[in-house]
Amino acid sequence: MNKHKQLFFDGIADKWDGWEDIPGLTDKLHMGFLKMGITAEETVMDVGCGTGNLTATLLPLLGAKGRVVAVDISTAMLSLAKKKVRDDRVTWHLADAAKIPEPNDAMDRVICCSVWPHFDDVDGTVMEFKRLLRQDGMLHVWHLASRATINEIHAEAGEAVREDVLCPAVETAERLQNHGFDVLEVIDDDCQYLVSARKRT
Ligand SMILES: C[S@@+](CC[C@H](N)C(=O)[O-])C[C@H]1O[C@@H](n2cnc3c(N)ncnc32)[C@H](O)[C@@H]1O
Repeated sequence: MNKHKQLFFDGIADKWDGWEDIPGLTDKLHMGFLKMGITAEETVMDVGCGTGNLTATLLPLLGAKGRVVAVDISTAMLSLAKKKVRDDRVTWHLADAAKIPEPNDAMDRVICCSVWPHFDDVDGTVMEFKRLLRQDGMLHVWHLASRATINEIHAEAGEAVREDVLCPAVETAERLQNHGFDVLEVIDDDCQYLVSARKRT
């Protein structure tokens, strides 16, 4: 795990929800999840779960057999998320996305919302997602803002994330293709960034 980034995210955890319009964010996440076609019995991985906003929005869409696996490198973020979301269907991991303690083929879906540019070993992390996803499982790389906005925020946010640049979505799509995914959707516009891909059989 990258200690530098871990400390950075620990340091902003208390402020994170104050920077967000939580009802607005929840609406956007909910609409996005509906569009992704999440179904009630899925096991969904929330990578870089932060204070738990995605996990909290996912759970009402899942039934008794659905499950969320929420992963983050920041102890402080995870601690806030666990206080916010108390539900037996969630498994929490303090872990780097490149090495997640879950078995092969365990996930129906992996969602990376606002975390992709922070991965130090992108190819290794994609391989890890491929290991974790079942055949035909879905991977979504998602940001609820434009690439330019994300890159401006990182450039000014602090030394730990200054070089965490979000590349054009077509490049992410190409990387996923090269690692054995079929890309189904690519959006890189003024409102969002989304690359959705299915693990190839
Ligand atoms: C910008 S925040 C986004 C939080 C949440 N996904 C959201 O959209 O509200 C990024 C989160 O990813 C976590 N993170 C950064 N690098 C990570 C990595 N390599 N593996 C797992 N989590 C990571 C950070 O600790 C932080 O909580």
